[in-house]
Amino acid sequence: MGCNNITKTVLIFMKSRFFLSFLCLLTLGLLVGWPRGFHTLTARYPSTFRKWSSSRRVTILMWHRPFGESSSLQGDVCWDLHRIPNCKLVDQRSLFPFADVVVFHNRELSEGTEKLPLHLPRPRGQRWAWMTMESPAHNGDLYQYANIFNMTITHRRDADISIPYGERLPKKAEGHLPEDVPQNKSFLACWVVSNYRAHHRRTQVYKELSARIPVKVYGQWANTPLDASALLPTISRCYFYLAFENSVAKDYITEKLWRNAYQSGAVPVVLGPPLEDYKAVAPPNSFIHVDEFASVKDLAKYLQQLAEDKKRYSEYFAWKRQWKVKLSIDWRESLCKICLKYNSLPRKKVYSDLQAWNKASNS
Ligand SMILES: *[C@@H]1O[C@H](CO)[C@@H](O)[C@H](O)[C@H]1NC(C)=O
Ligand SMILES: *[C@@H]1O[C@H](CO)[C@@H](O)[C@H](O)[C@H]1NC(C)=O
Repeated sequence: MGCNNITKTVLIFMKSRFFLSFLCLLTLGLLVGWPRGFHTLTARYPSTFRKWSSSRRVTILMWHRPFGESSSLQGDVCWDLHRIPNCKLVDQRSLFPFADVVVFHNRELSEGTEKLPLHLPRPRGQRWAWMTMESPAHNGDLYQYANIFNMTITHRRDADISIPYGERLPKKAEGHLPEDVPQNKSFLACWVVSNYRAHHRRTQVYKELSARIPVKVYGQWANTPLDASALLPTISRCYFYLAFENSVAKDYITEKLWRNAYQSGAVPVVLGPPLEDYKAVAPPNSFIHVDEFASVKDLAKYLQQLAEDKKRYSEYFAWKRQWKVKLSIDWRESLCKICLKYNSLPRKKVYSDLQAWNKASNS
């Protein structure tokens, strides 16, 4: 009957050489064409794909390494270091067509040692990220970068990916106060300065302050350079450490506070962005802000009285019972953070005037 005949024909066909070569060609075609075809498909139907793939691996291409950093991107860096899943960091430029995010570190762009690959066709859905840790004054001219970047990765809290120099984290169990209140102080106030500029606001404050109270100065400018290993032990012998930033800009709070002050056990006297910026990120009652005083004279008086009052001085260390401080030391962590926020990034966003965005952070 007809049905039997058809089955017979199909069987004969399947045994033929023609069919075998057809199968081979099909497999080969799929193997070669799949990644490209897949990419086209995801680019054409981004929203459908995004839903289906919310747990899909995100590929982040670092176009050039910041400051020539050499740390490895082998293996699953984000998982191994920070327990962030589905996040692949790569630095092979050949992977450009497959990258979800391409990150450009500003320093090398502004120095002219690296360039944006503007000649490459940008896959639809791919985001370009602009990354910097510098204060806005040191980012160079950014006019040429209008309408290019989709994301910012900076120390600012309003960046798409915020990468502060340090952060406070709540302690799980309320800790004890061992010898958290450091003893053995030899100096009232200390300042470490390598880049001394007369026009800096911090220089004016230092001058006024040192006219009223003893301020021990270290660093190249004072002809008492400190090597890295001597820094924290030296600061630890001071009641107060002047954590004066060299640029005054929105959220620009550097390792001067996070590392030098908090890890040495001197109370930081801070000069930088407004008090609110510090309050938003630093542990409560852990610092003294210059702007809290009507004059430097008042500040000097306050510091002197505080150093003489053990109980009140120790209150500046009470935060250590509930908070700990985490330093950002690994640039790779900044990239892994992209994956944490990837699915909540705005679908479409372009920095039409990066120069203005950068300057808006001057305060
Ligand atoms: C205090 O400082 C002196 C001199 O720097 C040092 O010799 C001594 O060991 C320190 N004492 C304590 C308890 O840290
Ligand atoms: C990224 O920026 C480019 C260039 O302005 C733009 O064409 C693209 O649509 C943006 N992509 C996203 C995902 O926002």
